[in-house]
Parts: sequence; C-alpha cells; structure tokens
Amino acid sequence: MTISDEELINAAKDARESAYCRYSGYAVGAAIVDDNGHLHVGCNVENASYPLGNCAEMAAIAAMVQEGGKRIDKIAVVGGSTKPSPCTPCGGCRQRIQEFADEGTIVLAMDDSKDWQRYSIAELLPAGFHLD
Ligand code: THU
Repeated sequence: MTISDEELINAAKDARESAYCRYSGYAVGAAIVDDNGHLHVGCNVENASYPLGNCAEMAAIAAMVQEGGKRIDKIAVVGGSTKPSPCTPCGGCRQRIQEFADEGTIVLAMDDSKDWQRYSIAELLPAGFHLD
C-alpha cells in the first residue's frame, strides 16, 4: 500500500500534536515514508538548555533507522503558521535528510494553510556535503 502525499502530511500533522515546544511555542511534526513504504514520525522536543532541543525531522529519522528503514522516499514537515511561512527543514536537518536521501527523495513542507510545497533534496541542499 502506498502512502499518498496527503496521508503523509496528515501523519506529520498528527505528530506535531505531540511537540514539546514550551520555549519557542513553535510545534513541528515530521513524517517519513521509507524505501519499504513504512511510516515513521517525530516531533520537536525542546529543553531548558536551549541548544539541546531536537528538531522533528531528527526524531523521525531516528525512528526510521531504529525500525530498519534505509532510505527516505518522502518526508513531510508541518510547522509554522501562514505567516511568516511553512517550516522548511533547517540547514542541519537538510544535511540529516540528505544522509538517507537519493535523487528521488521528496520533501513536503506545510504550515497552517491547506497547501503544501514540494521540493527535491537537491533544491533544498544544492552542492551538499557527501563522503561518498
Ligand atoms: N524545528 C524543527 O523541528 N525543524 C526544523 O527544521 C526547524 C525548527 C524546531 C526546533 C525548535 O524546537 C522550534 O522548531 C523553533 O525553532
């Protein structure tokens, strides 16, 4: 069974409900469909020691790896309001996504509006760092 863009967005929205974001008030949810068609989700988890907070994408990637996923087929990130903009992955998370991406990997980004944006990882991280 394939997971549609809308289903993946909805999974990220659900994950967003669990966000622990008491310092920023900025809730983010992420949902990944991996190379086996399996779903993995995560939310941001902040900390009183601010730099220790984790992004939602990081949590979803950790869940994917733990559950045996090897590659990110598609990842949806939901956060932010219609102003200023949807939560496109931060720079660090672009690198984290790239680690498990291939040319076909898609990133969907959405805020509180109805529409989402669709990117390739190459668009979000041109000339990104690789070791291989
Ligand atoms: N955040 C994410 O979860 N993902 C991103 O790609 C950007 C930012 C979180 C981190 C922090 O908890 C909150 O959003 C505000 O920066």
